Amino acid sequence: METSNHNSRIMDMFEKGKVLKICAPMVRYSKLAFRSLVRKYNCDICFTPMIVADDFMRSVKARDSEFTTNASDRPLIVQFAAHDAQTLADSACVVAPFSDGVDLNCGCPQRWATSAGYGACLINKPELVKDMVTHVRNQVDNPNYTASIKIRIHKDLRQTVDLCQKAESAGVSWITVHGRTAEERHQTVHYDAIKLIKDSVSIPVIANGDIKYLRDVESIHQLTGVDGMFKLPLKMTLQWTVVALFLYVEMGILVILCLPFISARRWQSIFQLRIWSCVSKFWNKVFLTMIIILIVLFLDAVREVRKYSAKDLGSDAKLQPNMFDHLHMKLFRAQRNLYISGFAVFLWLVMKRVVTLINQLASASGSTAALQLQADNANQAAKKYTEDNELLKKTLMEGKGDKATAEGMELLRKQVEKMKEELKTSEDAVKKSQSEADVMKKQTDGLAREYDRLLREHQELQNLQDGETKKDD
Ligand SMILES: Cc1cc2nc3c(=O)[nH]c(=O)nc-3n(C[C@H](O)[C@H](O)[C@H](O)COP(=O)(O)O)c2cc1C
Repeated sequence: METSNHNSRIMDMFEKGKVLKICAPMVRYSKLAFRSLVRKYNCDICFTPMIVADDFMRSVKARDSEFTTNASDRPLIVQFAAHDAQTLADSACVVAPFSDGVDLNCGCPQRWATSAGYGACLINKPELVKDMVTHVRNQVDNPNYTASIKIRIHKDLRQTVDLCQKAESAGVSWITVHGRTAEERHQTVHYDAIKLIKDSVSIPVIANGDIKYLRDVESIHQLTGVDGMFKLPLKMTLQWTVVALFLYVEMGILVILCLPFISARRWQSIFQLRIWSCVSKFWNKVFLTMIIILIVLFLDAVREVRKYSAKDLGSDAKLQPNMFDHLHMKLFRAQRNLYISGFAVFLWLVMKRVVTLINQLASASGSTAALQLQADNANQAAKKYTEDNELLKKTLMEGKGDKATAEGMELLRKQVEKMKEELKTSEDAVKKSQSEADVMKKQTDGLAREYDRLLREHQELQNLQDGETKKDD
C-alpha cells in the first residue's frame, strides 16, 4: 500500500506550520462513512474510533468489524486502547499497511476502560506509555509510520510535562492533549496547560477539547501556538457580520430619512410609489420576523455574556493567563454581539416609528395646506369687498352719489306708500272683522240669556209635575 507516501505527508503537514484540522477519535462515530464525509470538508487527518487492541488481536471477527477502510481513507490514524506494549505493537503491524499511524488512547475517562488498565489511567504510567511507543516504533517496518498518544492532563501539570517528555524521548510522533483532567467532563478546557506542554516538547502537539467552530481552531491555535504570541482573533462570524451590516443599513436609512431638505410630503409621495404597494403586503410580516430574529440573537448574546462573565475568571488569571485572555476575548466578542444586536433591534423600532411619524406629518401638512388655501380665498374675497366698498365710498364722496341717493329715496318713498296702502287695507279688514265679531258676541249673549230662561221654566214645570204626582198618591 502507499503507506510511506502518506506518512511522509503527515509529518510534512505538521512541519509546514499551518493549522491542521483533525477529526477526533469517537467510538461509534468516526467510522469509515463519517470519515469519508468529513474529508469532503477539508479535514486534514482522520482518526478511527478507539479499538481495544487485545480484542483486535484475539478475534478476526473483531478485526473485520472494528476496522474498515478504503483507498481514499487517508491520512488515517488508528487508535487503540492498550495496556500491553507487545499487543499494541502487534495491532500496529496489522493495520500499518492500511493506515498512516497508530495512536494510543491515554485519555478515555470511562470507568470500564480505566479499571481494565486502558485510557486515562495510563497518564499515571509514563514508563508503560514510553515502552508502548518504543515497541511500535521498533516493530512497525516503516520509519514514517507514526506512533502518537492522546492524553488528558493532570491536576499537577508537572506530571503531564514529565509524561510528554518521556513519550518524546521514546520517539512519539505527536501528542494530542485533551485539556481536561480525568475527572473533568464539560468544564472549561485548560488551554494554558496545552500551551505549557507545547512549550515543553519539540514534537507537534494537537489541542483538543471544546472546539466547535472553525474560528475556535484559529483562536486556540493563537493561544497555544509555539510563537507564544497572543493575538485577539476579532473576525466576526457570518451571522454577526450580517447583523452588523443590517445595523449600518438601518443607520444609513435613518440618516436619509432625517435629511432636512426632503419634506415629509415628499417622503409620503415616495412611500406611495407603486413599488412599495407590493412590499407593503409583506411589510408587517417582515417587520415581525426581523424583530424575532434580532431578539433571538440578542438573547443568545446575553447568554454568552453571562457565560463568560463567570466569577471564577479572575481566580484563573494568575494560574492560566492565556486562558484568562482567551475567555476575555470571548467575553469581548459576546459583548460586541450584544451591543450590535441590541442596537439593531432598537433602530428597527425607531425606523418604523420615524416612517409612521413622517406619514402623519405629511397628512397634517396636507390638511394645513388645504386650510391655508381656504383662508387665502376668504382673504381674497374680503379684499375684493373692501375694494368695492372703497370704490363706493369714493363714488359717494365725488358727488355722483347725490343722484343715486335721490333715486334710492324715491324708490323707498314709493315702497313706503305702497306699504301704507296695504296697511290701511289690512286695518279696514281688521275693523270689519272686529265689528262682525262684536255682532256675533251680542247674538251669543242673547242666546245664552234665552237658554237660561228656558232652563228656569223647565225647572218650574218639573217642580209642578212632581207636586201633582205626590197628591195623587
Ligand atoms: C461520542 C464520543 C466518542 C468518543 N470516543 C473517543 C475515542 O474513541 N477515543 C478518544 O480518544 N476520545 C474519544 N472521545 C473524545 C473525543 O475524541 C474528544 O477528545 C472530545 O470529544 C473533545 O472534547 P469536547 O467534546 O468537549 O469537545 C469521544 C467523544 C465522544 C463525544
